[in-house]
Amino acid sequence: MTNPILETIRERRSILRFKSTPVSDAKLNLVLEAGRWAPSLGNSQPWRFIVINNKEIKERMSIVVSTFFSLSIKDAPICIATCVNPKKDSFHFIEDGAIATQNMALAAQSIGLGTSWIGVFSLLNEKNSTERKLKEILKIPNEWRLISILPLGTPKFKETKQRKELPELVDLNNFRIREEPSSNLEIIRKRSTEIQKTHEPSSVREIEPSIV
Ligand SMILES: Cc1cc2nc3c(=O)[nH]c(=O)nc-3n(C[C@H](O)[C@H](O)[C@H](O)COP(=O)(O)O)c2cc1C
Repeated sequence: MTNPILETIRERRSILRFKSTPVSDAKLNLVLEAGRWAPSLGNSQPWRFIVINNKEIKERMSIVVSTFFSLSIKDAPICIATCVNPKKDSFHFIEDGAIATQNMALAAQSIGLGTSWIGVFSLLNEKNSTERKLKEILKIPNEWRLISILPLGTPKFKETKQRKELPELVDLNNFRIREEPSSNLEIIRKRSTEIQKTHEPSSVREIEPSIV
């Protein structure tokens, strides 16, 4: 059995390259509405969504984000920065921001647009983190946190990344210890160090299968 929601969830993939086709205000509004209707602790709604369509600002943002992901920020006609105010929900502000981001990614998918989640939130909130640098560019006040950047546009390519099968992920009644294959992140780290050592990638396409 399937339905439009399940299909949207299954079909969504991270899109790193976009066509130059602009995103209409009507479509952008539908995406932002999906963010607005996300759940949050005690309905605190601690969000602010910054819509970035200014080329120069996107250019500056792409410089502070790691080389591998910067292309999608420049490529996309629009980026949405999801900010949260921990004062409004000090317990779950990260989840609040994450759910709103995913709601927008799914809404985009359902109307023929694509997104890619750029993870910029810094758990340690270090001074020289990407999050801090982006906050400066976007003039986000100190007390607010930046959870994600979502480039938004018409996908240039269809992505096909797959998932683990359910039996690998689901246990019944209690956690069952199993042998875990080495983590994807470890593989990614090793691979990206190799790539950096050998050459500067000329396009995201070139490194995407191993990194993202
Ligand atoms: C919290 C989070 C952070 C992510 N950070 C990045 C990122 O910085 N750059 C990027 O290109 N993709 C990023 N992604 C996208 C994931 O790499 C991608 O979702 C994953 O590989 C699965 O691919 P799919 O989205 O195409 O199914 C992030 C995703 C999540 C949920």
